[in-house]
Amino acid sequence: MFTKVIKDDSLCRKCGFCATVNRCLNSQCVSCLACYLACPYEARRIVLDESPRKMINVIVDGVPYYVPERITIKEALRLCGYEVGIYPDEGIIQAPCSSGGCWSCAVIANGEVVRACLTGVKDGMKISTDTRHIMPLRIIHGPEPHTVGGKATPWFEEKGRRYIEVAIWTAGCNLRCRSCQNYSVTYDNSSKPISPIEAAREITYYRRIYGVKGMAISGGEPTLNRRWLIEYFRELRRLNPDKGARLHLDSNGTLLTPAYIDELVEAGANNIGVEPKGIRVETFMNITGITDRSLAERYLKTSWEAVKYLVDNYRDKVYIGVGIPYNSAFMSLEELAEIGDKINSIDPEVQVCVLDYFPTFRRREIKRPRYKEMLKVREILNGRGLKYVIVQTIYGHVGP
Ligand code: FES
Repeated sequence: MFTKVIKDDSLCRKCGFCATVNRCLNSQCVSCLACYLACPYEARRIVLDESPRKMINVIVDGVPYYVPERITIKEALRLCGYEVGIYPDEGIIQAPCSSGGCWSCAVIANGEVVRACLTGVKDGMKISTDTRHIMPLRIIHGPEPHTVGGKATPWFEEKGRRYIEVAIWTAGCNLRCRSCQNYSVTYDNSSKPISPIEAAREITYYRRIYGVKGMAISGGEPTLNRRWLIEYFRELRRLNPDKGARLHLDSNGTLLTPAYIDELVEAGANNIGVEPKGIRVETFMNITGITDRSLAERYLKTSWEAVKYLVDNYRDKVYIGVGIPYNSAFMSLEELAEIGDKINSIDPEVQVCVLDYFPTFRRREIKRPRYKEMLKVREILNGRGLKYVIVQTIYGHVGP
């Protein structure tokens, strides 16, 4: 059974997102679903496509196969028996964002590096899944300087109005948060991708210009394209060997397995923030839009275990921060207190930053938490024994 995506004109607001940020690469729909995932007004629908299809010939890693026309390379690879994974060490290729931003799914098709999740197969196409010899790529926004940092920016650096950090943001995410706080980056599939070497050089240049210690990478979700990220940190450390350099990663933690953390620290990351989206799986699913319960459970477990693993193994080497998304539309104060207890059981002195999720993307109806509400949040977490709690408010960060 085949599907295609159509536009629902009754819901389309003509915002231009699909013409400028998340653009279609194909002349006919190949059901990649990128536009369906990215449209801020949910004006795309998946429908059955019963029109006739020919079988076409593709050659994958030297072996000929027949696959239906008008499907993505990713789908063709699946049909040819290739496992397509989400976690960096699972599957022959990984396609965690499936919206074109992370470039983890890069393959070589007819001699060109393309994204398997977006690109349609063509008759006679020669595909190679071995990309070890080519430079990894990724879409990046920034760098930009900041006076306020992320969840793991050390609170004691955030004094006064001076710049404390420069940041870049990676496109592509494995979550589908309806209140994605950075959706125009997350779903960008049209900007030119760059290598980790170029990204490390650009952010280093900005570090020097603005005279800061911190260089942050956030998203989207930076951990999706593991090879890219490791090479980025290696180059960043080479360019910034001084002790004061803060090589900062902000992550949702869902892919941060112990082996991945070890590799990141070895590559030079010395400031890591993890943001588990809740403590109850229902809350996680509500925030992230992940509808597969077993995947949601795995993601949530991995992110909490990442916090614990970092604290247990790298407390002295890495400045660690924990982020908590908060809005009463998706999290009760009772659950927030449970999160406080959980963090306390790991380490009451770890830095905690609560982010006041504002209305955006597909949840424009929610209200940004009021200033007093965020102070209450802080009081609750302090009451659970947490020592260094920062809350993001409409007037800036408050705390510890
Ligand atoms: S999975 Fe294809 S670009 Fe992210």
